[in-house]
Amino acid sequence: MSDVILKTEGLTKYYGGLHALDNANFELRSGEHVAIMGDNGAGKSTFVRQITGVEQRTRGKIIFNGQEVHFKGPLEAREAGIETVFQNLALADDLDVPSNLFLGREKIWLNLGPFSILDFKGMKAATEAALKRTAVKIPNLANTIRNMSGGQRQCVAIARTATFASKLIIMDEPTAALGVQETAQVENIIRTLKSNGEPVILISHNMRQVFDLVDRIVVFRRGRIVANLKKSQTTGEEVVAYITGAKTAPEFSDAA
Ligand SMILES: Nc1ncnc2c1ncn2[C@@H]1O[C@H](COP(=O)(O)OP(=O)(O)OP(=O)(O)O)[C@@H](O)[C@H]1O
Ligand SMILES: [Mg+2]
Repeated sequence: MSDVILKTEGLTKYYGGLHALDNANFELRSGEHVAIMGDNGAGKSTFVRQITGVEQRTRGKIIFNGQEVHFKGPLEAREAGIETVFQNLALADDLDVPSNLFLGREKIWLNLGPFSILDFKGMKAATEAALKRTAVKIPNLANTIRNMSGGQRQCVAIARTATFASKLIIMDEPTAALGVQETAQVENIIRTLKSNGEPVILISHNMRQVFDLVDRIVVFRRGRIVANLKKSQTTGEEVVAYITGAKTAPEFSDAA
């Protein structure tokens, strides 16, 4: 049995003539935490959108848990076990916190098919427990997402990710909008995921955070993967050199 959780082969996305993602070969092993770094517009979020079915790829293969997958949308990816915190947050503005946490997997109180009655009490209790576990503080769970600060929204999205057992967690700049304390909390959540053996892809511009949290760093530049570095064998300066293009790894220099 292979312990590769996610593998992409030649994953490519063109937006018209723009090669946002070009021939990405990527691998994540079970329990591994990998950071994706790269300048603005390097193709990091595009990569996530192809994996999670938010968009349909131009070409390439995605193998998840040993099977080739073609998710038609983010809910399908979720059902398969991929939890994602999207950079532009996929939260429902007009719903409160419990409804967002359970979006797409609502607890049913009475099952009448399309007219089922949801178990709001159960979802609220589970939400309180989840937020407690993740140390995320939301003053009023009944608030709709629309009335929350950017940081609070981000916290709800992260709590959702950490709540449900999943095979893979992807976080696209989860702390970009957060204050110092909230950032530390999110980093603790990521550490907990590591000790639980849950694999994570973390997209971050924060070098300190990346070196604190992950095992491996993959650098994107202009739609291509340009470096794949074990944290223990690289430095912040080297990573920056790959991000800016000052350095090129021989194994990635070929346009193949
Ligand atoms: N829907 C779209 N249509 C056209 N071009 C797009 C679309 N989405 C992204 N792009 C372009 O694709 C490129 C890669 O964008 P992407 O969002 O993947 O960058 P990123 O690495 O996530 O950057 P950042 O660090 O700023 O989040 C950019 O040049 C962007 O303008
Ligand atoms: Mg992005």
